[in-house]
Parts: sequence; structure tokens; C-alpha cells
Amino acid sequence: MDFLNHCNMYLFIVLLFVCQCIAFQDQQLPIGPLPQWLSLQDDDDPDPKQPGSRIPVPALYHKRYSEQTFIGTHDAVAIRTSDNNWSLSGNQYFNVSTQLKAGVRFIQAQGHNDPNGTSEIRMCHFNCALMDGGSLIELLTTVKLFLEENPHEVVTLMLVNVGPPLERWARAFYDTGLDLLSYIPPPSKTYGNMKTGDWPTIAEMVSTNKRLVSFLDKGADESQVPFLLREFNYMFETTFTVDHPSQFSCEPSRPWYIYGYIPDRLSLVNHFLYASFLGFRYPNASYANTTNGAGFREGQLGEHAVRCRSLYERRPNYLLVDFFNEGDVFDVEYGMNAY
Ligand SMILES: *[C@@H]1O[C@H](CO)[C@@H](O)[C@H](O)[C@H]1NC(C)=O
Ligand SMILES: *[C@@H]1O[C@H](CO)[C@@H](O)[C@H](O)[C@H]1NC(C)=O
Ligand SMILES: *[C@@H]1O[C@H](CO)[C@@H](O)[C@H](O)[C@H]1NC(C)=O
Ligand SMILES: *[C@@H]1O[C@H](CO)[C@@H](O)[C@H](O)[C@H]1NC(C)=O
Ligand SMILES: *[C@@H]1O[C@H](CO)[C@@H](O)[C@H](O)[C@H]1NC(C)=O
Repeated sequence: MDFLNHCNMYLFIVLLFVCQCIAFQDQQLPIGPLPQWLSLQDDDDPDPKQPGSRIPVPALYHKRYSEQTFIGTHDAVAIRTSDNNWSLSGNQYFNVSTQLKAGVRFIQAQGHNDPNGTSEIRMCHFNCALMDGGSLIELLTTVKLFLEENPHEVVTLMLVNVGPPLERWARAFYDTGLDLLSYIPPPSKTYGNMKTGDWPTIAEMVSTNKRLVSFLDKGADESQVPFLLREFNYMFETTFTVDHPSQFSCEPSRPWYIYGYIPDRLSLVNHFLYASFLGFRYPNASYANTTNGAGFREGQLGEHAVRCRSLYERRPNYLLVDFFNEGDVFDVEYGMNAY
């Protein structure tokens, strides 16, 4: 018995070592999913605060889409609840319909091929075995319902393509009818030609009922599917691997060919903090209240947003957070939009 335990311990250490080496080599995938078998004590005692609510700034209704700040949810479908024992793979405490009702207007999620072999796209976190947040159809249905119930609202989807071919993504839009609600840029503005000043106003998007903007990070082809916009033709992003509150950056980090200047494009500011354990990164939940705080201390969303605004000389467009209910994210959005 004792011998077996030692054996297990030895295997465990070897496995961890191998995993770490792989994680270290693969710089493209620096965020290692935390394996379920590594049953780590969570860093917070989940008693999630109820979400706040967005305070719209009416004057911005007649301003361009690109002139607004929106709060976004990172890995929006990866939900920690008591049902999954507050899974460490969860980045949010509340589901997408609650996010939208509260005022989140930018939803980010990863789409994977179904490991069970159906043609359905599954919205998973890294690996469908760790966290399966439902199908793309289910996500789009939730978004459609919200848009129908709220005819003056505009929602943005940031879809991360982990494999499925373009036609499957498009099919889900056709099947839910969301293609008809989707904003399509003029043909002359595709291929990186869309400047911030080319975006329509919110009022125009509402009156034409083109109230969904969908970006796909890889595999988009607007000549085939004009409503799935190729992310890096329209925006840049700041770095998303932040392990310490002092590391939140405003500099463009992707696409790789934008370097050392601020392009006249939409901006996605990644503002979520990782904790790590033996080389595995997972969301730092215990510090989320501070990370998502409206204050101006290092590591807070308020400070980060103001710093980016001053560097960009315009509002940052999307502030992407984990655990959007924590802190005061909508106060930060209001502060950006009202002044
Ligand atoms: C949650 O934890 C309890 C007690 O440890 C266990 O019985 C249950 O199977 C777990 N549920 C899930 C979904 O992991
Ligand atoms: C989302 O969560 C709310 C509140 O917990 C619940 O009422 C609703 O049914 C959930 N929606 C979905 C699509 O699971
Ligand atoms: C995939 O198959 C497994 C095993 O049969 C099942 O537990 C799971 O629910 C299936 N997932 C989906 C999304 O159908
Ligand atoms: C979360 O971040 C805070 C601030 O850096 C740090 O003190 C804390 O240890 C982190 N939590 C974990 C579990 O690493
Ligand atoms: C969250 O942070 C605010 C200040 O940013 C503080 O007033 C509040 O007490 C904190 N709440 C919790 C539960 O830690």
C-alpha cells in the first residue's frame, strides 16, 4: 500500500514535470488548463457578488460604435457554479444571459470541434473535457433573444476559432437568423481598411437593425461570409498573459505586425489576472474585486482604462474581464463614456 502511494507520488511529479516542459516550449499556448485531477484548493470562498448594472450615456447613442467603451466578458461561457464545484476552469460566475442583462455588450468565447464527432461547434474552455459551455447555437440563441428584447442595444461577439471550418460557424448564424441582424462593413473597408472613423453610429446600427458585430480571430473570409469579420483587420489587442497587477499593458501586442505605434483601429484591452500553480495558469478569483475595481491603484481596471485612453488619445473600446460581477466594471465604463 505504502509502496503504491509512493509510486503514485512519483508518477505525479514526473507528469507535472512533463506538462511544465510542454507548456514552457509551447509559447503559443502559455495558458495551461488546470487539470481536473489536480484538485487544488480554490483561492476564494465563492460567494459571488450580484452583478451591477450598466449606466448608458445617452449622448453616445449618436456617436460612432468605435467611440464607445464596452465591458466584455473573457471566456463568457465558462461559468463557475455550485453545480461544477466552482470549477477552476470557470472565468465567470454568471451565464451569458445574465451578463447581457446586466450590461455586458462584448462576449468572448472559444469554439471547438465537438469531441463527440457531431458537426456542432462546442463553446469550451481550452478543452471540452474540462469545461463545455454549450453549443454555438445555444450561445447565439441567447444573444438573439437579448437583441430581440432590447431593440436599441448593440452586442459584439469575439469568437476564438479553435478548429471548426468557416462554413460551420456561418451555418449557426443562418440557423439562428443572426446573419440578418449582423453588421457588414462596406466592401471597400474590409482587408484592414476600416478606420475608427468609418464605423457607423449606434443610432444608425439600430435604425438599420444591424446590431450584432461578430469577429472571428482565425479562419474568417469576408468574401464568403461577410458578417464574420476577421478580427485583426479591425482591431488590436493588448497582452493577455498577466500574472501580476503591475503587468497590465496598453501597448498593442497582437496582431504581431503592429509594433511600436497605435493604429487607427478598435482596441481590445485585456484586463484579467492569472494565478499560477506549478506552471499552470488559472484565473485569480480572490483578487478579482481589486482587479475589476474602478480605482486608480496599480492593477485596477479604472487605472488601466485611463492609462490606455491617454495613450490611444481616444476611448479604449473593449475592456475584457474575468468575473465581471466583481469590482465595479460598469462604473469604469460609465467613467470612460461620460467624459
Ligand atoms: C462536487 O464535489 C462533491 C463532493 O466532493 C462530489 O460528490 C461531486 O461529484 C462533485 N461534483 C462535480 C460536478 O464534480
Ligand atoms: C442563466 O442564469 C439565470 C440566473 O441564474 C437563469 O435564470 C437562466 O435560466 C440561465 N440561462 C441559461 C440559458 O442557462
Ligand atoms: C459527449 O459524449 C459523452 C460520453 O458519451 C457525454 O457524456 C457527453 O454529454 C457528450 N457531449 C455532448 C455535448 O453531447
Ligand atoms: C492573486 O493576486 C494577488 C495580487 O497579486 C496575489 O496576492 C494572490 O496571491 C494571487 N492569488 C493566487 C491564488 O495566486
Ligand atoms: C472590494 O473592493 C472595494 C474597493 O475597491 C472595497 O470597498 C470592498 O470592500 C471590496 N469588497 C470585498 C468583498 O472585498
